[in-house]
Amino acid sequence: MPASRRRFLRNAASASVAFPAMAAQSAVSPNSKVRIATIGIGGMGFGDTRNALKDPGVELTAVCDLYTGRLERAKELFGTDLITTRDYREVLARNDVDAVIIATPDHWHVPIAIEALKAKKDVYLQKPMIHKISEGKPLIEEARRSGRILQVGSQYVSSAIYRKAREIVQSGQIGQLTMVEAWLDRNTATGAWQYTLAPDASPATIDWDRFLGSAPKRPFDANRFFRWRNYNDYGTGLAGDLYVHLLSGLHYVTNSKGPRSVYTTGGLRYWKDGRDVPDVMLALFDYPQSKEHPAFNLALRVNFKCGMPEERFGFRFVGTEGSFTTSYDTLEMVRTPEESVPGYTIGTFPKAMQDAYLKEYNEKYPEMVRKNKGRVVENSSFKASDGYSAHVAHHEAFMEGVRTRKPVVEDAVFGMQAAGPALLCNESYYQKSILYWDPERMEPVKS
Ligand SMILES: NC(=O)c1ccc[n+]([C@@H]2O[C@H](COP(=O)([O-])OP(=O)(O)OC[C@H]3O[C@@H](n4cnc5c(N)ncnc54)[C@H](O)[C@@H]3O)[C@@H](O)[C@H]2O)c1
Repeated sequence: MPASRRRFLRNAASASVAFPAMAAQSAVSPNSKVRIATIGIGGMGFGDTRNALKDPGVELTAVCDLYTGRLERAKELFGTDLITTRDYREVLARNDVDAVIIATPDHWHVPIAIEALKAKKDVYLQKPMIHKISEGKPLIEEARRSGRILQVGSQYVSSAIYRKAREIVQSGQIGQLTMVEAWLDRNTATGAWQYTLAPDASPATIDWDRFLGSAPKRPFDANRFFRWRNYNDYGTGLAGDLYVHLLSGLHYVTNSKGPRSVYTTGGLRYWKDGRDVPDVMLALFDYPQSKEHPAFNLALRVNFKCGMPEERFGFRFVGTEGSFTTSYDTLEMVRTPEESVPGYTIGTFPKAMQDAYLKEYNEKYPEMVRKNKGRVVENSSFKASDGYSAHVAHHEAFMEGVRTRKPVVEDAVFGMQAAGPALLCNESYYQKSILYWDPERMEPVKS
């Protein structure tokens, strides 16, 4: 292996994921209960709450949601003593809440997170961290200023599979990384965000004005409320919603701070139900060389009508000496070390030239070496243990941060490094052009 390559691997292995400046003292002593509240208790809010409560040291104080049916359901599941409200500020004002889970639609992430940090709560903020690129820096600033723990909810950053992938890439087992492919393909209506509208949905059961927040005013629309992902006013499309997971996983594995350029194409091919976001998106990224990794290329794909019975989600990391593919809970690796004999393509040359070439070749590569020609291909695989959940692991990582005040990996800077380029993909899609990003300054640049 060349010396420069060894040096790179050493640097990569010793480089840790970037951590932010400081962490303030917790209201929670290491052994006391952590009292949480969930703001936005829909599909993910219920999941996050359940996962957080797997820790016997966690108690649920309150939940906040804008749809009455979900507040009722929360009481059915978590007890009639649970405090419920439509106004998140009531939750933030409570002294018996140490940390909040924010699982609202994307356009509410930053406004609520900033208020929560100001109210001295630790924050588990669902992905994507931001709805607009301009929201990133104010949130990073408030997280630093407050010294609270803020963890973004892309659980792959705590996944055993990605930990294994990181170990493989950083120890050089597949040689030098050259490119990465990643995909998330679905084929069902609910997978394509056609969620069920509550039969009792009305302005009486839903706080429509609060849902809109800073989004353009419009009359009550249950479809927009329950299927908010399909509209740019509230969601972030395939890129913000799903690319962000892939970018978070990739950045964790490679220690990367982000790409230099993106180009995205796609279209609304099948789910023409009034949505204003595409259902197929393909993106190409250039990752520049950095202290942590060599330059590499990334290709991402999300397709909501993929022609396969099951959802597919995975990565393929390709290096000079091997490659591996991941799924939700497995990793399959093939190692193909460099050929010991280069081979030849001399059949079209004059006979005398072929003879001379072969003579020299056979001297250079003795019979023993030629017999072992080619590669020693090694296959190996890794599987997460039965019942393993990256979601649970990610909540454990958050609680560890809350109790110890040690910085978490997926902090606000990490969240921005993934969400910024993901949102730039949307801009590239709408503008139909290559766009550029400064990974250090975390902002779009002209070239
Ligand atoms: N990490 C993951 O794998 C994952 C998976 C799914 C969703 N998510 C994220 O979780 C978030 C929620 O997604 P979901 O699928 O649960 O959506 P959802 O529509 O099922 O739930 C969102 C809930 O937020 C409530 N809400 C909206 N505005 C609010 C406000 N201002 N105050 C309080 N509550 C409010 C709504 O009433 C709704 O019940 C999104 O940001 C999404 O990207 C993450």
